[in-house]
Amino acid sequence: MKVLFLAAEATPYIKVGGLGDVAGALPQALRQLGADVKLMLPRHGSIDVHKFGMNKAMDNFPVQMDWRHEACQLMAANNHDFFIENDHFFGSRFKAYGYDDDPTRYVLFARAALEACRLSGWEPDIVHAHDWHSAAAIRLQWSAHNRAGLVFTIHNMAHQGLCANSNWPLLGVYDARGHLNLMEQAIYAADVVTTVSPTYAHEIQTREYGFGLDGLLRQRDERLVGIVNGIDVDIWNPATDPLIPARYDLHNLEGKRQCKMELQRRQGLEVNPDVPLIGVVSRLDDQKGIDLIVQSLGDLWAFSDCQFMVLGSGHEPYENAFRAATWHHGDRMANWIGFNNEVSHLVYAASDIFLMPSSFEPCGISQMTAMRYGALPVVRSTGGLVDTVPDVSQEGGVGYRFDSYDKGAMLHAVSRALRDYQNRPLWHHVMQRAMSRDFSWNTSARRYAEVYHWARELSRR
Ligand code: GLC
Repeated sequence: MKVLFLAAEATPYIKVGGLGDVAGALPQALRQLGADVKLMLPRHGSIDVHKFGMNKAMDNFPVQMDWRHEACQLMAANNHDFFIENDHFFGSRFKAYGYDDDPTRYVLFARAALEACRLSGWEPDIVHAHDWHSAAAIRLQWSAHNRAGLVFTIHNMAHQGLCANSNWPLLGVYDARGHLNLMEQAIYAADVVTTVSPTYAHEIQTREYGFGLDGLLRQRDERLVGIVNGIDVDIWNPATDPLIPARYDLHNLEGKRQCKMELQRRQGLEVNPDVPLIGVVSRLDDQKGIDLIVQSLGDLWAFSDCQFMVLGSGHEPYENAFRAATWHHGDRMANWIGFNNEVSHLVYAASDIFLMPSSFEPCGISQMTAMRYGALPVVRSTGGLVDTVPDVSQEGGVGYRFDSYDKGAMLHAVSRALRDYQNRPLWHHVMQRAMSRDFSWNTSARRYAEVYHWARELSRR
């Protein structure tokens, strides 16, 4: 099975969020199942051609955009990772997103990717596009003769690639409602639409979570599938992790205490391995429920003894709120504003409790990483958090869930966790259960392979 896998970001080349992790890991897992997967990304300015040993795989070829042609090149890092090179739209731009002409840039990406396949004679059986940035490929292939099976994966409904109707020639689609919505086009045209958890697949069919596309998603219900993401269990493994000061596993947790004391030392917290440490590793924005955390900082100090560590960046008022709290409660509160991979490993390893009160969460990756490192998650019951974190009150539970999006509900869940922490045999038991769960890509990759077969069959009807 030949699969053209299109995304705006993928590790190790460029990562902005969870999509980068998925687009980096899933193709490899699929290859292990025998699929011939070619990953295609734009060659963003921040992707270093030399560092990744890239070569030119195809010289200038013209890609038709509305009324003009744009010259692109194809770069290759190896025989399965390819990049669309165009200086004006990609090479000269450092970031992956955030430019006024993003819709034009990403339609060019999709067109160029399909054209490169055609010119090289490599014809995919499946085109698998992720989020709105590669959605145009689905719509463009849909009207092609003898087309591939089309799979579109939604990672986040909040970003849809909405643009003015004056852009209609980009795709050749005119929408009488006065705008062009790239994600909507792909949801409409795909043989199978997937999203990154079963609960989110259900939620996006409601007004609350559908961001205006719930009606279309309800119509496509029979072709909509939720598949939970995995994580890279080789990189995220406390038993072998070179980035943490002491290693541990579920049979020997002494290293975890060492990691906690090291974090306490480095961050100027009171050094005491028996004080429960609550960790947050997150983009600091509203999707992640950071407003609830900020509102609760005062109340958190009322809880017996606990410490709190935040790593992340984002919305400036949130960054400042954490800085201010650290200023006032430096022995119990610490922060690292910005992103640092090594510190993130240490926070997962040092934390007892991992807080993730998202307002919506298509899948969520950090709660899985936290569990693998023995930090029990406190999460809001939404999207992938429901599917990956069963509450301790349920059989096999590993975390603490709350339903309503308010600080009272969140604090109640935190207090349940802090109370259980005092019961050490119980806590260890739950920790070991969390650490022994399978977060690898194996199961999910097999589900994607099934979806590919299904989409292939549907496309031939
Ligand atoms: C988006 C979602 C997140 C998901 C990730 C990868 O970033 O917000 O929940 O885990 O995509 O699918």
